[in-house]
Amino acid sequence: MTASDPPQDFRVGIVGAGMMGADHVKRITSTISGARVSAVVDPDQPRLASALENAPGATGYSRIEDALEADAVDGVLIATPGFLHEQVLLPCLAAGVPILCEKPLTTDPESSWRVLEAEQATGRQLIQVGFMRRFDPEYRQLRELIVSEEAGQLLMLRCAHRNPTVPDSYLQESLINDSVVHEFDVVPWLADSPIVGLEVKHTRRNRLTPERLKEPILVLMELANGTLVDLEMNVSIQFGYQVTTEAVFDSGIARIGETHGLQLWHRGRSGLAEHADFTTRFATAYDDQVQAWVDAARRGTIAGPSAWDGYKVAVACREGVASLFDGKPRTLDLPEVPAFYR
Ligand SMILES: NC(=O)c1ccc[n+]([C@@H]2O[C@H](COP(=O)([O-])OP(=O)(O)OC[C@H]3O[C@@H](n4cnc5c(N)ncnc54)[C@H](O)[C@@H]3O)[C@@H](O)[C@H]2O)c1
Repeated sequence: MTASDPPQDFRVGIVGAGMMGADHVKRITSTISGARVSAVVDPDQPRLASALENAPGATGYSRIEDALEADAVDGVLIATPGFLHEQVLLPCLAAGVPILCEKPLTTDPESSWRVLEAEQATGRQLIQVGFMRRFDPEYRQLRELIVSEEAGQLLMLRCAHRNPTVPDSYLQESLINDSVVHEFDVVPWLADSPIVGLEVKHTRRNRLTPERLKEPILVLMELANGTLVDLEMNVSIQFGYQVTTEAVFDSGIARIGETHGLQLWHRGRSGLAEHADFTTRFATAYDDQVQAWVDAARRGTIAGPSAWDGYKVAVACREGVASLFDGKPRTLDLPEVPAFYR
């Protein structure tokens, strides 16, 4: 290549062509600059074929090892179910390719720790975890406000995470592992302080929640700097999808995630349209996350939550699930941050 040649696109392999993977295929093909989908990996042939329709020139594989062996990718986006992340992460790390791994890093602290060890053995940070809320413009603004101390010191965060309904595959522990998992990453990032304790409380059960679930729940978190956080986690609220945060400061409050947009006065009522699910609420965050990852990967670095952040969330989820079932408060004992992640 000479100095005048255009830079080659970063070749991304998407592993897992389900709901998120198929969406990332479309995103990289149509929205992300400097990258193209060069491989899609999924053992499910109909899903693979359907995703490939949106990835011109890409090759389909049923195993990640085959795509790596064929030198078909410069980086990998993992969108398999969480319990399969470790088995995809390890060969990708061994091959030394940059990785954007959908949340969670893995589903328990032990497997996350094994991933940390494998990453450290490569000598550089290759993993960015897909906690995309850190790329949401309003969350970013709130973090800047907290850091600037313009309204004083942060005293409390009051969060709400509401879904209209959930699919049949959503179980009681999913309240923590699939939903609160996002707050376990974004809250310490906002406040720049780790979670040191948590407790899950049950309020009266929503009569509209499926038989197998007992919710809404209230998750209380204490951060190392003394900030208290409460989170209403609610998955049967019917009206729409809403993720809000109120930050309480010495001399003011700030709110993000409020419903906004066109307001309609009609037939004796006024109103705003609410999001139906996360795909529209966090559309910008998904795009910005993937663009930032591509740009950073091309420079040989990461641009978001690290594998260490993923490990911390795995510990919080374990304690959160325990408290969900026995109602007892938990302290979070984390090992010292390995020098590699400082
Ligand atoms: N960031 C977010 O807001 C968000 C939202 C939803 C899901 N997720 C995460 O995205 C990931 C995928 O979730 P989903 O809802 O798209 O799952 P999904 O079940 O719709 O899709 C998973 C796909 O992985 C494929 N698969 C299984 N084993 C595989 C293997 N060994 N190699 C390659 N492909 C394999 C399956 O055939 C399936 O097509 C999960 O980690 C989930 O937690 C993140």
